[in-house]
Amino acid sequence: MAPMATTPGGSFYEKNIGHGNNATISQNISNPARDPKNFADPSGETMKALVWMGKNKVEIQDVPKPRLVESRDVILKVTGSTVCGSDLHLLHGAIVELEKGDILGHEFCGVVESMGPSVTGLKKGDRVVASFQIACGDCYYCNKGLTSMCEKTNSDQLAYDMYGGRTAGIFGYSHFTGGFAGGQAEYVRVPYGDVNLLKLPDSVPDEKGLYLSDVIGTSWNCVVDTGVEKGDVVAIWGAGPIGQMAADFAFLNGASRVIAIDCNWRLDYLKSKYPKIETIDFSALPRGTSVTAKLKEMVPRGPDVALECVAGEYAKGWAHYFELLLGMETDSSEIINEMVTSVRSYGRCGITGVYVGYTNHLNIGAIMERGIRLIGNGQAPVQKYWVDLLRMVEEGKIDPLKMVTHRVKLEELDLVYSKFEKKEDGMQKVYVQTRFSAPPSAGSPPLTTWRK
Ligand SMILES: NC(=O)c1ccc[n+]([C@@H]2O[C@H](COP(=O)([O-])OP(=O)(O)OC[C@H]3O[C@@H](n4cnc5c(N)ncnc54)[C@H](O)[C@@H]3O)[C@@H](O)[C@H]2O)c1
Ligand SMILES: [Zn+2]
Ligand SMILES: [Zn+2]
Repeated sequence: MAPMATTPGGSFYEKNIGHGNNATISQNISNPARDPKNFADPSGETMKALVWMGKNKVEIQDVPKPRLVESRDVILKVTGSTVCGSDLHLLHGAIVELEKGDILGHEFCGVVESMGPSVTGLKKGDRVVASFQIACGDCYYCNKGLTSMCEKTNSDQLAYDMYGGRTAGIFGYSHFTGGFAGGQAEYVRVPYGDVNLLKLPDSVPDEKGLYLSDVIGTSWNCVVDTGVEKGDVVAIWGAGPIGQMAADFAFLNGASRVIAIDCNWRLDYLKSKYPKIETIDFSALPRGTSVTAKLKEMVPRGPDVALECVAGEYAKGWAHYFELLLGMETDSSEIINEMVTSVRSYGRCGITGVYVGYTNHLNIGAIMERGIRLIGNGQAPVQKYWVDLLRMVEEGKIDPLKMVTHRVKLEELDLVYSKFEKKEDGMQKVYVQTRFSAPPSAGSPPLTTWRK
Protein backbone atom coordinates (compact mmCIF):
# COMPACT_ATOMS: atom_id res chain seq x y z
CA MET A 1 0.00 0.00 0.00
CA ALA A 2 1.28 3.47 -0.75
CA PRO A 3 2.09 5.62 2.25
CA MET A 4 -0.43 8.34 2.66
CA ALA A 5 -0.44 11.67 4.42
CA THR A 6 -3.63 13.60 4.61
CA THR A 7 -2.30 16.98 5.62
CA PRO A 8 -0.42 19.13 3.11
CA GLY A 9 2.51 19.42 5.49
CA GLY A 10 2.48 15.67 5.84
CA SER A 11 2.70 15.08 2.09
CA PHE A 12 5.54 17.56 1.81
CA TYR A 13 7.70 15.58 4.19
CA GLU A 14 6.73 12.25 2.71
CA LYS A 15 8.72 12.51 -0.49
CA ASN A 16 11.54 10.30 0.61
CA ILE A 17 10.18 7.06 1.97
CA GLY A 18 12.54 4.26 2.75
CA HIS A 19 13.88 2.04 5.47
CA GLY A 20 17.18 1.75 7.23
CA ASN A 21 18.61 -1.58 8.30
CA ASN A 22 18.91 -0.80 12.00
CA ALA A 23 15.78 -2.61 13.18
CA THR A 24 16.05 -6.11 14.61
CA ILE A 25 12.33 -6.91 14.25
CA SER A 26 10.00 -6.98 11.26
CA GLN A 27 8.37 -3.69 10.29
CA ASN A 28 5.01 -2.74 8.80
CA ILE A 29 2.82 -5.44 10.30
CA SER A 30 0.10 -2.89 10.96
CA ASN A 31 -2.74 -5.34 10.27
CA PRO A 32 -2.42 -9.14 9.90
CA ALA A 33 -4.61 -8.80 6.79
CA ARG A 34 -1.68 -7.17 4.97
CA ASP A 35 -0.04 -10.57 4.62
CA PRO A 36 -2.24 -13.29 6.14
CA LYS A 37 0.18 -16.06 5.22
CA ASN A 38 2.94 -14.63 7.40
CA PHE A 39 1.09 -12.46 9.93
CA ALA A 40 -2.29 -14.14 10.59
CA ASP A 41 -2.99 -17.00 12.98
CA PRO A 42 -3.14 -20.27 11.00
CA SER A 43 -6.48 -21.11 12.67
CA GLY A 44 -8.16 -18.55 10.42
CA GLU A 45 -9.78 -17.02 13.55
CA THR A 46 -10.82 -13.38 13.28
CA MET A 47 -11.01 -10.59 15.86
CA LYS A 48 -12.54 -7.14 16.19
CA ALA A 49 -10.18 -4.20 15.80
CA LEU A 50 -10.35 -0.46 15.29
CA VAL A 51 -8.98 0.39 11.85
CA TRP A 52 -8.04 3.78 10.36
CA MET A 53 -9.81 4.19 7.02
CA GLY A 54 -8.75 7.71 6.01
CA LYS A 55 -8.85 11.22 7.43
CA ASN A 56 -11.46 11.44 10.22
CA LYS A 57 -12.65 7.91 9.55
CA VAL A 58 -12.17 4.91 11.84
CA GLU A 59 -14.13 1.65 11.80
CA ILE A 60 -14.50 -1.52 13.82
CA GLN A 61 -13.66 -4.39 11.48
CA ASP A 62 -13.26 -8.15 11.62
CA VAL A 63 -9.63 -8.84 10.80
CA PRO A 64 -7.38 -11.89 11.17
CA LYS A 65 -6.07 -12.71 14.64
CA PRO A 66 -2.30 -12.06 14.71
CA ARG A 67 0.27 -14.82 14.96
CA LEU A 68 3.73 -15.10 16.49
CA VAL A 69 6.17 -13.82 13.89
CA GLU A 70 9.44 -13.66 15.80
CA SER A 71 10.86 -15.71 18.65
CA ARG A 72 10.47 -13.02 21.32
CA ASP A 73 6.88 -12.15 20.33
CA VAL A 74 3.95 -12.46 22.69
CA ILE A 75 0.36 -12.65 21.49
CA LEU A 76 -1.69 -10.78 24.07
CA LYS A 77 -5.39 -11.31 24.62
CA VAL A 78 -6.51 -7.74 25.24
CA THR A 79 -8.65 -7.15 28.34
CA GLY A 80 -8.36 -3.36 28.53
CA SER A 81 -7.67 -0.60 26.03
CA THR A 82 -8.28 3.13 25.73
CA VAL A 83 -8.05 6.19 23.48
CA CYS A 84 -5.24 8.74 23.86
CA GLY A 85 -5.01 12.36 22.69
CA SER A 86 -2.33 11.01 20.34
CA ASP A 87 -4.96 8.91 18.57
CA LEU A 88 -6.70 12.14 17.61
CA HIS A 89 -3.60 13.23 15.70
CA LEU A 90 -3.86 9.95 13.78
CA LEU A 91 -7.59 10.39 13.26
CA HIS A 92 -6.94 13.85 11.81
CA GLY A 93 -4.18 12.58 9.54
CA ALA A 94 -1.69 14.92 11.23
CA ILE A 95 0.86 12.11 11.65
CA VAL A 96 2.63 11.14 8.46
CA GLU A 97 2.77 7.65 6.93
CA LEU A 98 -0.46 6.31 8.37
CA GLU A 99 -2.03 3.88 5.91
CA LYS A 100 -5.61 2.92 5.29
CA GLY A 101 -6.24 -0.36 7.12
CA ASP A 102 -3.82 0.24 10.00
CA ILE A 103 -5.00 -1.00 13.43
CA LEU A 104 -4.64 1.75 16.06
CA GLY A 105 -4.16 1.78 19.85
CA HIS A 106 -1.03 2.04 21.98
CA GLU A 107 -2.36 1.83 25.56
CA PHE A 108 -3.55 -1.66 26.49
CA CYS A 109 -3.32 -4.51 28.96
CA GLY A 110 -4.23 -8.17 28.75
CA VAL A 111 -3.33 -11.77 29.33
CA VAL A 112 -0.48 -13.70 27.68
CA GLU A 113 -2.13 -16.01 25.14
CA SER A 114 0.99 -17.47 23.54
CA MET A 115 4.66 -16.62 23.20
CA GLY A 116 7.73 -17.39 21.15
CA PRO A 117 10.44 -19.78 22.45
CA SER A 118 12.89 -17.00 23.39
CA VAL A 119 10.56 -15.04 25.69
CA THR A 120 11.77 -15.17 29.28
CA GLY A 121 10.10 -14.24 32.56
CA LEU A 122 6.52 -14.65 31.35
CA LYS A 123 4.08 -17.51 31.11
CA LYS A 124 0.77 -18.16 29.45
CA GLY A 125 -2.02 -16.60 31.48
CA ASP A 126 0.08 -13.79 33.05
CA ARG A 127 -1.84 -10.53 33.39
CA VAL A 128 0.30 -7.69 32.02
CA VAL A 129 0.31 -4.11 30.80
CA ALA A 130 2.19 -3.12 27.61
CA SER A 131 4.37 -0.04 27.20
CA PHE A 132 3.23 2.13 24.29
CA GLN A 133 6.70 2.05 22.81
CA ILE A 134 8.38 -1.07 21.57
CA ALA A 135 11.90 -1.33 22.94
CA CYS A 136 14.61 -3.95 22.39
CA GLY A 137 15.92 -3.69 25.96
CA ASP A 138 19.54 -3.88 24.92
CA CYS A 139 20.69 -0.94 22.77
CA TYR A 140 22.53 2.23 23.82
CA TYR A 141 19.33 4.04 24.84
CA CYS A 142 17.51 1.03 26.29
CA ASN A 143 20.51 0.43 28.54
CA LYS A 144 20.09 3.97 29.85
CA GLY A 145 16.39 3.37 30.46
CA LEU A 146 15.48 5.73 27.61
CA THR A 147 13.32 3.15 25.89
CA SER A 148 11.38 5.59 23.71
CA MET A 149 14.61 6.25 21.85
CA CYS A 150 15.35 2.57 21.19
CA GLU A 151 17.47 2.31 18.05
CA LYS A 152 16.45 -1.22 17.10
CA THR A 153 12.68 -1.19 16.62
CA ASN A 154 11.93 1.44 13.97
CA SER A 155 13.73 1.60 10.67
CA ASP A 156 11.62 4.33 9.08
CA GLN A 157 13.95 6.48 7.00
CA LEU A 158 11.76 9.56 6.89
CA ALA A 159 11.63 9.71 10.69
CA TYR A 160 15.41 9.38 10.82
CA ASP A 161 16.01 12.07 8.20
CA MET A 162 13.52 14.52 9.69
CA TYR A 163 14.64 14.15 13.28
CA GLY A 164 18.30 13.29 12.87
CA GLY A 165 18.13 10.18 15.01
CA ARG A 166 16.15 7.03 15.62
CA THR A 167 13.07 6.82 17.81
CA ALA A 168 11.41 3.63 19.03
CA GLY A 169 8.63 1.74 17.34
CA ILE A 170 5.18 2.52 18.75
CA PHE A 171 2.07 0.31 18.67
CA GLY A 172 -0.68 1.53 16.36
CA TYR A 173 1.04 4.77 15.47
CA SER A 174 1.69 4.82 11.71
CA HIS A 175 4.60 3.56 9.65
CA PHE A 176 6.58 6.58 10.81
CA THR A 177 7.07 4.62 14.03
CA GLY A 178 7.59 1.25 12.40
CA GLY A 179 4.09 0.22 11.35
CA PHE A 180 2.95 -2.02 14.23
CA ALA A 181 -0.65 -3.14 14.73
CA GLY A 182 -2.16 -1.55 17.83
CA GLY A 183 -4.07 -2.68 20.88
CA GLN A 184 -7.53 -1.31 20.12
CA ALA A 185 -8.24 -4.90 19.21
CA GLU A 186 -9.02 -8.26 20.81
CA TYR A 187 -5.49 -9.53 20.25
CA VAL A 188 -2.18 -7.83 19.60
CA ARG A 189 1.31 -8.99 18.77
CA VAL A 190 3.89 -7.60 21.21
CA PRO A 191 7.46 -7.77 19.87
CA TYR A 192 10.17 -8.26 22.52
CA GLY A 193 7.37 -9.29 24.85
CA ASP A 194 9.74 -9.85 27.76
CA VAL A 195 10.84 -6.19 27.58
CA ASN A 196 7.58 -4.47 26.71
CA LEU A 197 5.18 -6.12 29.15
CA LEU A 198 4.97 -5.56 32.89
CA LYS A 199 3.21 -8.05 35.17
CA LEU A 200 0.33 -6.64 37.18
CA PRO A 201 -0.11 -7.83 40.79
CA ASP A 202 -3.53 -9.06 41.94
CA SER A 203 -3.96 -5.89 43.98
CA VAL A 204 -3.94 -3.72 40.83
CA PRO A 205 -6.97 -4.34 38.60
CA ASP A 206 -6.82 -3.77 34.84
CA GLU A 207 -8.81 -0.57 35.30
CA LYS A 208 -5.83 0.96 37.10
CA GLY A 209 -2.90 -0.96 35.62
CA LEU A 210 -3.84 -0.19 32.01
CA TYR A 211 -2.80 3.45 32.27
CA LEU A 212 0.83 2.54 33.04
CA SER A 213 1.04 1.93 29.29
CA ASP A 214 1.20 5.63 28.53
CA VAL A 215 -0.67 8.41 30.31
CA ILE A 216 0.76 7.80 33.79
CA GLY A 217 4.37 7.44 32.62
CA THR A 218 3.99 10.29 30.14
CA SER A 219 2.63 12.75 32.68
CA TRP A 220 5.26 11.70 35.19
CA ASN A 221 8.00 12.19 32.61
CA CYS A 222 6.56 15.58 31.68
CA VAL A 223 6.84 16.76 35.28
CA VAL A 224 10.21 15.28 36.25
CA ASP A 225 11.95 15.77 32.90
CA THR A 226 10.99 19.45 32.90
CA GLY A 227 12.43 19.66 36.40
CA VAL A 228 9.50 20.60 38.63
CA GLU A 229 10.95 21.37 42.07
CA LYS A 230 9.50 21.84 45.53
CA GLY A 231 7.72 25.18 45.78
CA ASP A 232 7.41 25.74 42.02
CA VAL A 233 4.42 27.44 40.45
CA VAL A 234 3.48 25.25 37.50
CA ALA A 235 1.26 26.29 34.58
CA ILE A 236 -0.18 23.51 32.43
CA TRP A 237 -1.60 24.01 28.94
CA GLY A 238 -4.32 21.42 28.26
CA ALA A 239 -6.65 19.85 30.84
CA GLY A 240 -7.08 16.52 29.07
CA PRO A 241 -5.90 13.26 30.67
CA ILE A 242 -2.21 14.13 30.24
CA GLY A 243 -2.61 17.63 31.67
CA GLN A 244 -4.71 16.27 34.53
CA MET A 245 -2.17 13.68 35.62
CA ALA A 246 0.67 16.19 35.12
CA ALA A 247 -1.18 18.45 37.59
CA ASP A 248 -1.54 15.54 40.00
CA PHE A 249 2.17 14.72 39.72
CA ALA A 250 3.27 18.37 39.94
CA PHE A 251 1.55 18.54 43.35
CA LEU A 252 3.05 15.16 44.27
CA ASN A 253 6.52 16.53 43.43
CA GLY A 254 6.04 19.57 45.65
CA ALA A 255 4.58 22.30 43.40
CA SER A 256 3.10 25.09 45.51
CA ARG A 257 0.55 26.13 42.88
CA VAL A 258 -0.76 24.55 39.68
CA ILE A 259 -2.63 26.59 37.09
CA ALA A 260 -4.43 24.72 34.30
CA ILE A 261 -5.27 26.43 31.00
CA ASP A 262 -7.94 25.14 28.61
CA CYS A 263 -11.22 26.28 27.10
CA ASN A 264 -13.95 23.89 28.26
CA TRP A 265 -15.62 21.85 31.04
CA ARG A 266 -12.44 19.92 31.64
CA LEU A 267 -11.20 22.78 33.83
CA ASP A 268 -14.18 22.28 36.18
CA TYR A 269 -13.55 18.54 36.09
CA LEU A 270 -9.95 19.08 37.26
CA LYS A 271 -11.12 21.54 39.91
CA SER A 272 -13.57 18.92 41.22
CA LYS A 273 -10.72 16.40 41.59
CA TYR A 274 -8.06 18.82 42.91
CA PRO A 275 -9.75 21.76 44.64
CA LYS A 276 -6.32 23.47 45.05
CA ILE A 277 -5.88 23.84 41.31
CA GLU A 278 -6.34 27.28 39.71
CA THR A 279 -7.72 27.57 36.19
CA ILE A 280 -7.75 29.87 33.19
CA ASP A 281 -10.44 29.47 30.53
CA PHE A 282 -8.75 31.19 27.60
CA SER A 283 -12.00 31.33 25.64
CA ALA A 284 -13.55 33.48 28.38
CA LEU A 285 -10.74 36.03 28.77
CA PRO A 286 -11.75 39.64 28.15
CA ARG A 287 -10.97 40.84 24.60
CA GLY A 288 -7.34 41.89 24.40
CA THR A 289 -6.25 39.85 27.45
CA SER A 290 -3.78 37.14 26.51
CA VAL A 291 -3.08 33.97 28.48
CA THR A 292 0.33 35.46 29.30
CA ALA A 293 -1.24 38.69 30.63
CA LYS A 294 -3.67 36.68 32.76
CA LEU A 295 -0.87 34.51 34.15
CA LYS A 296 1.16 37.63 35.07
CA GLU A 297 -1.87 38.93 36.96
CA MET A 298 -1.95 35.71 38.95
CA VAL A 299 1.84 35.27 39.31
CA PRO A 300 3.56 38.63 38.85
CA ARG A 301 6.97 37.35 37.75
CA GLY A 302 5.42 34.39 35.94
CA PRO A 303 5.25 30.66 36.75
CA ASP A 304 8.52 28.78 37.27
CA VAL A 305 7.49 25.98 34.94
CA ALA A 306 5.19 25.63 31.92
CA LEU A 307 4.03 22.23 30.65
CA GLU A 308 2.64 21.73 27.14
CA CYS A 309 -0.04 19.00 27.22
CA VAL A 310 -2.04 19.96 24.12
CA ALA A 311 -0.26 19.44 20.73
CA GLY A 312 0.97 21.53 17.81
CA GLU A 313 -1.85 20.78 15.40
CA TYR A 314 -4.51 22.98 17.06
CA ALA A 315 -4.23 26.56 15.76
CA LYS A 316 -5.70 29.35 17.85
CA GLY A 317 -5.51 32.28 15.43
CA TRP A 318 -6.11 32.67 11.69
CA ALA A 319 -2.45 33.04 10.70
CA HIS A 320 -1.50 29.58 11.94
CA TYR A 321 -4.82 28.14 10.82
CA PHE A 322 -4.01 29.04 7.21
CA GLU A 323 -0.34 28.18 7.45
CA LEU A 324 -1.25 24.72 8.68
CA LEU A 325 -3.93 24.35 6.02
CA LEU A 326 -1.52 25.37 3.26
CA GLY A 327 1.24 23.09 4.49
CA MET A 328 3.54 26.01 5.31
CA GLU A 329 4.13 24.47 8.75
CA THR A 330 3.14 21.25 10.47
CA ASP A 331 2.66 22.77 13.92
CA SER A 332 1.55 26.05 15.43
CA SER A 333 3.97 27.90 17.73
CA GLU A 334 1.20 29.75 19.58
CA ILE A 335 1.25 27.70 22.78
CA ILE A 336 5.04 27.56 22.92
CA ASN A 337 5.14 31.36 22.55
CA GLU A 338 2.59 31.73 25.36
CA MET A 339 4.70 29.45 27.53
CA VAL A 340 8.02 31.22 26.93
CA THR A 341 6.56 34.70 27.49
CA SER A 342 4.68 33.57 30.61
CA VAL A 343 7.36 31.85 32.67
CA ARG A 344 9.84 33.76 34.79
CA SER A 345 13.31 34.38 33.36
CA TYR A 346 15.30 31.14 33.30
CA GLY A 347 11.97 29.33 33.67
CA ARG A 348 11.50 25.81 32.29
CA CYS A 349 9.08 24.90 29.49
CA GLY A 350 8.45 21.22 28.73
CA ILE A 351 6.79 19.92 25.57
CA THR A 352 4.89 16.66 25.95
CA GLY A 353 2.01 17.38 23.54
CA VAL A 354 2.86 16.01 20.10
CA TYR A 355 4.68 18.23 17.59
CA VAL A 356 5.33 16.67 14.19
CA GLY A 357 7.75 18.88 12.27
CA TYR A 358 8.21 22.57 11.60
CA THR A 359 6.67 25.75 12.98
CA ASN A 360 6.66 29.45 12.04
CA HIS A 361 6.87 32.62 14.16
CA LEU A 362 8.61 31.02 17.13
CA ASN A 363 9.62 33.72 19.64
CA ILE A 364 13.25 32.73 19.61
CA GLY A 365 14.19 36.15 21.00
CA ALA A 366 12.29 35.59 24.24
CA ILE A 367 13.88 32.16 24.58
CA MET A 368 17.38 33.56 24.13
CA GLU A 369 17.16 36.88 25.96
CA ARG A 370 15.32 35.60 29.03
CA GLY A 371 17.22 32.33 29.30
CA ILE A 372 14.16 30.17 28.84
CA ARG A 373 14.79 26.43 29.09
CA LEU A 374 12.75 24.90 26.26
CA ILE A 375 12.71 21.14 26.84
CA GLY A 376 11.39 18.50 24.44
CA ASN A 377 10.21 15.72 26.75
CA GLY A 378 10.20 13.18 23.91
CA GLN A 379 7.79 10.33 23.63
CA ALA A 380 7.99 9.32 27.25
CA PRO A 381 10.29 6.41 28.17
CA VAL A 382 7.56 4.73 30.24
CA GLN A 383 9.70 1.75 31.15
CA LYS A 384 12.11 4.01 33.01
CA TYR A 385 9.35 4.74 35.51
CA TRP A 386 6.76 1.99 35.36
CA VAL A 387 8.00 -0.25 38.19
CA ASP A 388 8.04 2.72 40.61
CA LEU A 389 4.74 4.05 39.32
CA LEU A 390 3.11 0.63 39.68
CA ARG A 391 4.22 0.60 43.30
CA MET A 392 2.70 4.06 43.80
CA VAL A 393 -0.56 2.81 42.29
CA GLU A 394 -0.45 -0.19 44.65
CA GLU A 395 0.16 2.10 47.63
CA GLY A 396 -2.71 4.35 46.58
CA LYS A 397 -0.43 7.38 46.04
CA ILE A 398 -1.58 7.47 42.42
CA ASP A 399 -5.19 6.81 41.50
CA PRO A 400 -5.58 6.52 37.71
CA LEU A 401 -9.36 6.23 38.12
CA LYS A 402 -9.46 9.96 38.91
CA MET A 403 -9.41 10.61 35.16
CA VAL A 404 -11.57 7.69 33.99
CA THR A 405 -15.11 8.90 33.25
CA HIS A 406 -16.43 6.14 30.97
CA ARG A 407 -16.33 2.40 30.47
CA VAL A 408 -17.13 1.48 26.87
CA LYS A 409 -17.13 -1.54 24.57
CA LEU A 410 -14.50 -2.17 21.91
CA GLU A 411 -17.39 -2.67 19.45
CA GLU A 412 -18.36 1.01 19.92
CA LEU A 413 -14.88 2.51 19.84
CA ASP A 414 -15.49 4.30 16.54
CA LEU A 415 -18.21 6.35 18.30
CA VAL A 416 -15.89 7.01 21.23
CA TYR A 417 -13.26 8.54 18.92
CA SER A 418 -15.78 11.10 17.79
CA LYS A 419 -17.01 11.90 21.31
CA PHE A 420 -13.49 12.10 22.73
CA GLU A 421 -12.45 14.38 19.88
CA LYS A 422 -15.40 16.71 20.41
CA LYS A 423 -15.08 16.50 24.23
CA GLU A 424 -18.71 15.39 24.39
CA ASP A 425 -20.57 13.67 27.23
CA GLY A 426 -17.96 14.82 29.77
CA MET A 427 -15.52 12.27 28.38
CA GLN A 428 -12.09 12.65 29.98
CA LYS A 429 -10.55 9.16 29.70
CA VAL A 430 -12.22 5.88 28.78
CA TYR A 431 -11.68 2.27 29.75
CA VAL A 432 -12.40 0.03 26.76
CA GLN A 433 -13.53 -3.47 27.66
CA THR A 434 -13.35 -6.44 25.29
CA ARG A 435 -15.13 -9.78 25.37
CA PHE A 436 -12.18 -11.01 27.45
CA SER A 437 -12.42 -8.39 30.22
CA ALA A 438 -13.21 -9.27 33.82
CA PRO A 439 -16.30 -7.69 35.41
CA PRO A 440 -15.74 -4.04 36.40
CA SER A 441 -13.55 -3.59 39.48
CA ALA A 442 -14.48 -1.32 42.40
CA GLY A 443 -14.47 2.34 41.39
CA SER A 444 -14.74 1.65 37.66
CA PRO A 445 -17.50 3.69 35.95
CA PRO A 446 -20.52 1.69 34.75
CA LEU A 447 -20.65 0.61 31.11
CA THR A 448 -22.01 3.22 28.67
CA THR A 449 -23.41 1.99 25.37
CA TRP A 450 -24.88 3.93 22.47
CA ARG A 451 -25.80 1.29 19.90
CA LYS A 452 -28.78 -0.97 20.54
N1 LIG B 1 5.06 12.66 24.70
C1 LIG B 1 4.38 11.57 24.95
O1 LIG B 1 4.93 10.54 25.31
C2 LIG B 1 2.89 11.60 24.85
C3 LIG B 1 2.15 10.50 25.29
C4 LIG B 1 0.76 10.59 25.30
C5 LIG B 1 0.15 11.71 24.81
N2 LIG B 1 0.90 12.74 24.33
C6 LIG B 1 0.28 13.96 23.80
O2 LIG B 1 -0.15 14.78 24.86
C7 LIG B 1 -1.17 15.64 24.37
C8 LIG B 1 -2.36 15.62 25.32
O3 LIG B 1 -2.94 14.32 25.40
P1 LIG B 1 -4.39 14.13 25.98
O4 LIG B 1 -4.70 12.68 25.92
O5 LIG B 1 -4.54 14.84 27.26
O6 LIG B 1 -5.21 14.90 24.81
P2 LIG B 1 -6.60 15.64 24.67
O7 LIG B 1 -6.72 15.97 23.24
O8 LIG B 1 -7.68 14.85 25.32
O9 LIG B 1 -6.43 16.99 25.52
C9 LIG B 1 -5.90 18.17 25.00
C10 LIG B 1 -6.57 19.36 25.68
O10 LIG B 1 -5.96 20.56 25.19
C11 LIG B 1 -6.96 21.56 25.10
N3 LIG B 1 -6.51 22.66 24.24
C12 LIG B 1 -6.64 22.81 22.89
N4 LIG B 1 -6.07 23.96 22.47
C13 LIG B 1 -5.55 24.55 23.59
C14 LIG B 1 -4.82 25.75 23.81
N5 LIG B 1 -4.50 26.57 22.80
N6 LIG B 1 -4.44 26.06 25.07
C15 LIG B 1 -4.74 25.24 26.13
N7 LIG B 1 -5.43 24.07 25.96
C16 LIG B 1 -5.82 23.73 24.71
C17 LIG B 1 -8.17 20.81 24.59
O11 LIG B 1 -9.38 21.50 24.84
C18 LIG B 1 -8.07 19.48 25.36
O12 LIG B 1 -8.83 19.50 26.56
C19 LIG B 1 -1.51 15.12 22.97
O13 LIG B 1 -0.80 15.85 22.00
C20 LIG B 1 -0.97 13.72 22.99
O14 LIG B 1 -0.64 13.28 21.69
C21 LIG B 1 2.24 12.71 24.36
ZN1 LIG C 1 -0.67 8.05 23.93
ZN1 LIG D 1 16.66 -0.62 22.34
